[in-house]
Amino acid sequence: MAVHEVFLILAMAVVVSAIDGTWYDARATFYGDMGGGETMQGACGYGDLIKQGYGLATTALSTALFNEGLSCGACFEIYCSNAPKSCIPKAAPIIVTATNFCPPNYTKTKDIWCNPPQKHFDLSMPMFTKIAYYKAGVIPVRYRRVLCSKRGGVKFEIKGNPNWTLVLIYNVGGAGDVNAVSIKGSNTQWIAMTRNWGQNWQTGTVLTGQSLSFQVTVSDGTKIEFDNAVPAGWQFGQTYDGGKNF
Ligand SMILES: *[C@@H]1O[C@H](CO)[C@@H](O)[C@H](O)[C@H]1NC(C)=O
Ligand SMILES: *[C@@H]1O[C@H](CO)[C@@H](O)[C@H](O)[C@H]1NC(C)=O
Repeated sequence: MAVHEVFLILAMAVVVSAIDGTWYDARATFYGDMGGGETMQGACGYGDLIKQGYGLATTALSTALFNEGLSCGACFEIYCSNAPKSCIPKAAPIIVTATNFCPPNYTKTKDIWCNPPQKHFDLSMPMFTKIAYYKAGVIPVRYRRVLCSKRGGVKFEIKGNPNWTLVLIYNVGGAGDVNAVSIKGSNTQWIAMTRNWGQNWQTGTVLTGQSLSFQVTVSDGTKIEFDNAVPAGWQFGQTYDGGKNF
């Protein structure tokens, strides 16, 4: 580890809360363009990342990190490591939220960065170019899980139909990656939701016309209850603010 890397880690430790203080080795590339093109509407189920508060500070994860979508919403601190020709000298580490999947490609024989068991971050281009030169293409990085810092409350976007309530949960702080959700209509008991894809959670219980409460648990076990986060007059396609965050 270079001296400036040690300095950066010490400097960042003051402002960033690591979930796991260990730094792990991985690699990174980038996708899309400087405007974040191609990074929206990814495999986590999020939509317009700008409107949803993630902005361009995002990454796609390889199979080894994606955890079949359970890692969606997790935050990572990443720096370019030990590649003097690629790393921008003294660049501060970046912090990104996982919003997409970098799929494996088994027909490829070279540059197969996202295939298991490789840990790989396919960063948005604006994030990659903060820590490395554009022309580097692929870089060695070190990373660790950190707490996500989000503005405003956890958001619940309700989709589906009367017989199938599908809720996208986004803008989640703390550990960031939701691992369990229960929903309660004003006329029901608590119902465990199952994860459909990304951070979309579902139930077949009819909940129309009822105010909705949620219990959301993130990967470090922290659980928050959002009582009546959604009013009885809720509509499909609308997003509701839980009013608090992890
Ligand atoms: C996988 O790699 C091959 C060879 O480079 C390419 O032709 C193909 O489009 C890739 N598949 C996907 C899904 O990206
Ligand atoms: C919901 O289920 C009921 C009873 O099975 C059915 O009659 C109705 O068409 C369904 N509605 C939708 C929107 O799927």
